[in-house]
Amino acid sequence: MDIAPALDERTSPLIDPFGRSVSYLRVSVTDRCDFRCVYCMSEHMTFLPKQDLLTLEELDRLCSAFVRRGVRKLRITGGEPLVRKNVMWLFRALSRHLDEGTLDELTLTTNGSQLAKYASDLKDCGVERINLSMDTLDPQKFKAITRWGDLTNVLGGLEAAERAGLKVKINAVALKGVNEHEIDDLIRFAHGRGADLTLIETMPLGDIEGDRTDQYLPLSLVRARLLDRWTLEDIPYRTGGPARYVRIKETGGRLGFITPLTHNFCESCNRVRLTCTGTLYMCLGQDDAADLRAPLRASKDDSVLMEAIDAAIARKPKGHDFIIDRATRKPAVARHMSVTGG
Ligand code: 5AD
Ligand code: SF4
Repeated sequence: MDIAPALDERTSPLIDPFGRSVSYLRVSVTDRCDFRCVYCMSEHMTFLPKQDLLTLEELDRLCSAFVRRGVRKLRITGGEPLVRKNVMWLFRALSRHLDEGTLDELTLTTNGSQLAKYASDLKDCGVERINLSMDTLDPQKFKAITRWGDLTNVLGGLEAAERAGLKVKINAVALKGVNEHEIDDLIRFAHGRGADLTLIETMPLGDIEGDRTDQYLPLSLVRARLLDRWTLEDIPYRTGGPARYVRIKETGGRLGFITPLTHNFCESCNRVRLTCTGTLYMCLGQDDAADLRAPLRASKDDSVLMEAIDAAIARKPKGHDFIIDRATRKPAVARHMSVTGG
């Protein structure tokens, strides 16, 4: 006789209504950050009260439930994840899935401010690759973009990561009139130290003080300009995220493009995003979300939670509708990137 497994023992993979399988969970462990990047936050942000946060134990339980449902890749993001108190406990806890072979990758997106302190612990926890956000190599511009950041400190973090044996990918948001003429330098810098570089288009998330039309630099334009000086070869390399890569013949290094605006990549989306309050966003560019905190807390076993996860995945939308133009003044979604993580 066929006996259905108890709900909390469900191990069936998560498949959305469009047949995409969800194998990648991004987890924002805090909405706080020690920077105030102009495209991400306004200078005066109101953050979540600390008592609304899931504990690290609860985050571990949630992530582990997703791993049981076939998630093979976890990325810890923020805000700035390394400012969350005791965050290394979570990395340590999650690393057991790497040891057990149920998880392929545990990664981190960071602004680098705390990296000097944590790089070797991260490596110890099985983290192999990290994404480091760095939009410019000019200390003054760095200050202007991040408002509160210090380039020297971040470069120190980068060196610590390299010494610890972490593979680093540098992420730079392409900003019109800010770093648009620095892309060659960023390529040389990253590739000169064996790091990949990925360029990102600004996405209309959350109110910021400036006008996004002033910041937006289409990567189709950047790419066309790069062809004047570099030989770009399309390569099939993928890291599980939305970036499309080329190899630059002259440097031998990889350059990625994340183009939510000029080329919609939603058809191959494999990810969902969890916030530090236990809200699951099925799409970065849509408002619909599912609360997993109440189901998590409803019972000690994961039965209610598993049901809530299934119901959420069944609502994963087809894609985002980002637009940046003069006529569209309002962001596509009200929340900032620091809520759902980059
Ligand atoms: N559009 C595009 N990228 C953004 N980031 C933060 N806010 C935005 C936005 N509105 C980037 C950061 C970092 C990553 C986490 O997301 O620079 O590289
Ligand atoms: Fe912080 Fe990253 Fe947002 Fe900058 S982009 S303010 S580093 S969360």
